[in-house]
Amino acid sequence: MPRDPKDRLPADRLLADRLIVALDVDSLDRATGLVDALAGQVVRFKIGSQLFTAAGPSAVDAVRKRGGEVFLDLKFHDIPNTVEGAAREAVRLGAFMFNVHASGGRAMMSAAAHGSAEAAQAFRLPRPLVIAVTVLTSFDRAALAGELHVASSVEGHVLHLCTLAREAGLDGSVASPNEIRAIRNAMGYGWTVVTPGVRPAGSERHDQSRVATPRAAVQAGADYLVVGRPITGAADPARAAEAILTEMSA
Ligand code: C5P
Repeated sequence: MPRDPKDRLPADRLLADRLIVALDVDSLDRATGLVDALAGQVVRFKIGSQLFTAAGPSAVDAVRKRGGEVFLDLKFHDIPNTVEGAAREAVRLGAFMFNVHASGGRAMMSAAAHGSAEAAQAFRLPRPLVIAVTVLTSFDRAALAGELHVASSVEGHVLHLCTLAREAGLDGSVASPNEIRAIRNAMGYGWTVVTPGVRPAGSERHDQSRVATPRAAVQAGADYLVVGRPITGAADPARAAEAILTEMSA
């Protein structure tokens, strides 16, 4: 069974449990500074390719030593044997969630699911949630057709890849704010939906073209909200996180 974070937090921490702060920074010092600044408020942190390339597994260890949980956002996409090995290492690192590209296909996704389940059993660790990345939000229909020769709509292709991911044994998918409802309707409530592109009302969008407020993302059915710069770039990250948690509960 994947660990269910809701089993481990008192009721007043449930919202905090659904907020994941993206540590898109260039050093371990900056990352730990943010985790310390958010102590007692935020439990979950995303470590992606920038911080992992800069600091490696020490970044995961540092967050976990401070009591945080890590979503390892390395979007694995390789031959099944390699992805299975990477999935095993994600378990050993103690990630509560990691992701793979659904376009790697059924065999690759099955290998990720199998590798993480087997490693969790072998090392007596919780099995992380394995999440599919479907169509990157940088793609629109024209690029999907013109560059990748995918004839269906973006939404049609996203739902196709979600179905394939579920058949392969994955637990959920990353969804841009405007995909949440369609995915929730098609996949039901057993499917974990992780949503980036969240911006508090009236705040800067940065390079995100499709955004939703924390409240709208929760209402549309997202399980986890990934928020980076509105918190990490704020003069007072703890206050910014508090404001987002308040909006999520509205
Ligand atoms: O700073 P911001 O809130 O835009 O950060 C969003 C995070 O979510 C970044 O780490 C980004 O890489 C990630 N992400 C995204 N859009 C996707 C998938 C992941 O913004 N479609």
